[in-house]
Amino acid sequence: MKHFITTADWSQQALQEMLDLAKKFKQGEKSNALKNKSVALLFFNPSLRTRTSFELGTWQMGGHAVVLEPGKSAWPLDFEFGSTMDGIAEEHVIEAARVLSRFCDLICIRAFPKFENWQEDRQDKVIKTFAKYASVPVINMETITHPCQELAHMQTIQEQLGVAKNKKYLLTWTYHPKPLNTAVANSSLLISTKFGMDVTLLCPNENYLLDQRYMQLAKENAEENGGSFQVTHNIEEAYEGAEIVYAKSWGALPYFGNWEPEKQIRDQYKHFIVNEEKMAMTNNAKFSHCLPLRRNIKATDAVMDADYCIAIDEAENRLHAQKAMMEHLIKQ
Ligand code: CP
Repeated sequence: MKHFITTADWSQQALQEMLDLAKKFKQGEKSNALKNKSVALLFFNPSLRTRTSFELGTWQMGGHAVVLEPGKSAWPLDFEFGSTMDGIAEEHVIEAARVLSRFCDLICIRAFPKFENWQEDRQDKVIKTFAKYASVPVINMETITHPCQELAHMQTIQEQLGVAKNKKYLLTWTYHPKPLNTAVANSSLLISTKFGMDVTLLCPNENYLLDQRYMQLAKENAEENGGSFQVTHNIEEAYEGAEIVYAKSWGALPYFGNWEPEKQIRDQYKHFIVNEEKMAMTNNAKFSHCLPLRRNIKATDAVMDADYCIAIDEAENRLHAQKAMMEHLIKQ
């Protein structure tokens, strides 16, 4: 039984099969792959797109989705082993995973990092523990990567560019007043290099490099799939000739949990905003973002409202891509 926790566990061919099915769903093909089946959606963090697309996608395939918010509408969970549970948690993940597996055919988890200790958060303990004790497939709805966003992103790129291989792809860091999760940035590198794109990571300085695990996977993917991967801190060099511009903000990992000094550094890079001047340096690039996005902080109104902005298409494709992925998992 295979989980969908990171696309690093999946071949390009398997992901392409999901994307091909997602395209058919978008064209109107129906599926009852989830008929009489149920899907648990566990949200430890808020969502607009993920919750809506999973709930509707499950319903459209004949199934039923149950939304649970541990600590709010469901019991707070404990993830420690061998501890005396005398804190706020009323239930252990071991029972939660086993019970949900009796009720449901898929378990989907959103659990962002705690933003205190990256060495702890990078272990992705919440979803991995669910996967260990569940007897049904577990799906990542965003932890330290966001593989569902990756599928929708690649579906949108293929709609726009056809074959992605060797197309020039830019992942640019952008300013945000708060230190955000690196998940979508990690995922951006994983999926673009998995499909052999020529990928550039633009970030203000080396403090904003992504975790070595994802930098290394990007290098290995690029070698394996005939693409390339480079890093730059030079805005002009990065935008020159790009065909896809993907923007995301994230907090600098060396300052993880010590955000006060990081904010002083981050505040110096507000000019990384995606604007028309930067987009004019590209090769008629399409612009996208996973959303939500703060307008005129990460990208200007003009960019968000331009014909080349495909962020809404990418959001729609969450629905189609996740339906395809759930069908793949349920039929394995
Ligand atoms: N992109 C994304 O996952 O959106 P939500 O946080 O609204 O689910």
